[in-house]
Amino acid sequence: MIVVLLGPPGAGKGTQARRIEDKMGLVQLSTGDMLRAAVAARTEVGRAAQAIMEAGELVPDATMVRMISERIEAPDCAKGCLLDGFPRTYAQAAALDRMLTDKGLVLDRVIEMKVDDAILVERITGRFACATCGEGYHGRYRRPKVEGVCDNCGGAAFDRRADDTAETVAARLAAYNTETAPLLVYYAEAGTLASVDAMAPIAEVGEAIDALLDRAG
Ligand code: AP5
Repeated sequence: MIVVLLGPPGAGKGTQARRIEDKMGLVQLSTGDMLRAAVAARTEVGRAAQAIMEAGELVPDATMVRMISERIEAPDCAKGCLLDGFPRTYAQAAALDRMLTDKGLVLDRVIEMKVDDAILVERITGRFACATCGEGYHGRYRRPKVEGVCDNCGGAAFDRRADDTAETVAARLAAYNTETAPLLVYYAEAGTLASVDAMAPIAEVGEAIDALLDRAG
């Protein structure tokens, strides 16, 4: 099954993608995580992407399409994958269609995660992650069960993303509204789009997504 999670920064794409990966065995392909790994490793792609990401703008389509087309070929994606953060432009959506057609695959479901803009800044500026395993938390909505200790790996160090500032969130939101939101029409016309209320608590959003995936599977 091939699924796209589409939504603005802070909508909860990563939170739900990790949960679905654990539950359904679909591999999460997060272009944001891939880019952050490239930045940390100081690769050519990472060095070129770092300033763009910190400004809240989009990395060029050609880079992103290459990244996903290489990753989607890997054997662990044979059972399916969950695209988190890709596509973000018409050019990326068209490239994804071509990639899947070439492999004889179809895009089963595009899930829009709907959230009011007003809540996104709070979600993003409150977010932190385990520095060891990357498990995501939020100062208000998802704290570790034991204060200062990661639920997943027991790590005690946490960090925040360089682009999680109020100023950068505004630029990321503008990029979403201009470049990515038009894809909602593209996928509605293709008949693959469904929406969930991502303002609901994390568990409820998960149940709504699971119901959609059960119907698509
Ligand atoms: P990326 O990493 O994809 O960032 P994003 O799209 O801005 O999304 P986020 O990761 O910020 O949010 P999310 O929706 O995953 O929310 P989360 O689950 O963490 O991209 C970063 C940058 O890389 C881009 O700006 C761009 O520069 C570049 N890039 C990436 N892909 C690209 C592409 N294809 N093309 C070009 N450039 C690209 O949740 C947020 C917080 O809220 C968490 O703390 C969570 O615990 C909490 N939360 C989640 N759900 C709920 C809920 N229901 N209720 C309460 N709290 C919740």
